[in-house]
This record gives sequence, structure tokens and C-alpha cells, in this order.
Amino acid sequence: MNEISKESKLVLNAIDLKKEFSDAGKSLQILRCINLEIESGDKIAIVGSSGSGKTTLLQLLGGLDIASSGKILIGGKDLSLLKGNEISNFRNRSIGFIYQFHHLLPEFSAIENVAMPLLIRGDRYKLALDEARNILGKINLLERLYHKPHELSGGERQRIAVARALITRPLLVLADEPTGNLDSKTSSVVFDLMLELNSDMDTALVVVTHDNNIANKMEKVFELKNGILQKITSNN
Ligand SMILES: Nc1ncnc2c1ncn2[C@@H]1O[C@H](COP(=O)(O)OP(=O)(O)OP(=O)(O)O)[C@@H](O)[C@H]1O
Ligand SMILES: [Mg+2]
Repeated sequence: MNEISKESKLVLNAIDLKKEFSDAGKSLQILRCINLEIESGDKIAIVGSSGSGKTTLLQLLGGLDIASSGKILIGGKDLSLLKGNEISNFRNRSIGFIYQFHHLLPEFSAIENVAMPLLIRGDRYKLALDEARNILGKINLLERLYHKPHELSGGERQRIAVARALITRPLLVLADEPTGNLDSKTSSVVFDLMLELNSDMDTALVVVTHDNNIANKMEKVFELKNGILQKITSNN
């Protein structure tokens, strides 16, 4: 089960987030004041020019980096109050990450890579592999279960990364240019499968993308510009 009940509609609430980095003693304000509410099942795109802070924002939302100020509440819990193990357990159970490059473990097969988040949280091997087979079936990869990442195509590897992010049925998936290194046709196929899985599981999705076709498939599109998030469309 997820740590936080899916009954609570508000999955994540980012309040007045700021992030600055220092460069040669000079402070760079990357995120000035970010406010974002994500509800269960929300489909959100974040667009913005290179260097505008999109990856930085996803890292904060996923608890992989710490804001300079502001707060992130997930299911009402303040992320900054979680300690060591609590935060990694929370990430394992409640958030799925997908990156532009798949980050699959090269020595493990497709099915083991997908099962990995369940194995890490202590599920039994057979149960974890059964669940991985089940989700790989939904994305038409039953014939690639025992291939290692280097024996798969780029699109297949990204589909496996999608399955791995969703296998725990997280409340929220954070995807950073998930199809950024695929050709446009493969990108569209992979992204549509990803949306289907997300809808099946009522998982909220935040996707950073440079691809208008992908942004247009999302319910809400925000642009990150000058450290501020601005809603540019609501497609529902
Ligand atoms: N750890 C860091 N230390 C210092 N500066 C950083 C650090 N991480 C990111 N930055 C700076 O913050 C800015 C935003 O970076 P970020 O990676 O979030 O951009 P982005 O919007 O994801 O860009 P892209 O579309 O190219 O991926 C950049 O100017 C970058 O140099
Ligand atoms: Mg980036």
C-alpha cells in the first residue's frame, strides 16, 4: 500500500519554493517562488527553456534535493521533516521517477529491472516478478522479459523504465523528458502507454518536456520562466 491514502485528493502542495545555487560566490536564483498543487490523477506538463530550472524543480518535488526556502507537503506531511530512511522509504512507495536516459541496471534482465522497486521494499521475489510480468504485459513487452538493457531498443528501454516507475502504484510520477531521446513516432507510442498506465493506476503525473505533442496531451501546462511557474493552458 502507499504510505498516503489515495483518498486525500491533494497529493502534493508546493508552497513558496525558492532555490538558489551559488556560483563563484555569486548567488543564482533559479526558482524564485513556486506554488503548485497536484491532485490525484492530475496530468501536468512543465515546459520552459533550457536552464530555466525544470529539472531542479522536479528534484525538489521528489525529495532528491532541498529547497532554499518554502515547503513541500505530500499528503499533508512536510517533506523536510522526514529523516534519512523515512525519506527513501517514502520515495520508494509514493513517487516514481522517469528520466530521459533509462538508468536501468545493465546486469539485470528487463523483468528484474521492473521488479526492483518491489524487491527493494522487501516484497517476495516471486510476487515481485509476477507483478513485473503483469505490467510488462500491459506495455506489450512479454517477449522481452529476459533481455538485458543492451539487448533492447531505445523505445523498449524507456517502456521498461516507465514500468519500473509505476510498479509500486505510486501517488505521483515525476518524469524528466521521458521520451527526449526517442524519435517522434516512438516517443508518441511510449508516452501513450505511459498515460494509459497512469490512468489505470490513478497516479498523478508531472512531465517536463520540450515536445509540444506531449504537452498537448496533458490536462494542465505550466511554463517555468524567470523562476516562476505560470499556467499556460488547462485542457480539461
Ligand atoms: N548543483 C548545481 N549547482 C549550481 N548550479 C546548478 C546546479 N544544478 C543546476 N544548476 C543551474 O540551475 C539552472 C537550471 O538547471 P536545470 O537543470 O534545472 O535546468 P532545466 O530547465 O532542466 O534545463 P534543460 O532543459 O536543459 O534540462 C542552470 O542554469 C544550472 O546551471
Ligand atoms: Mg533538465
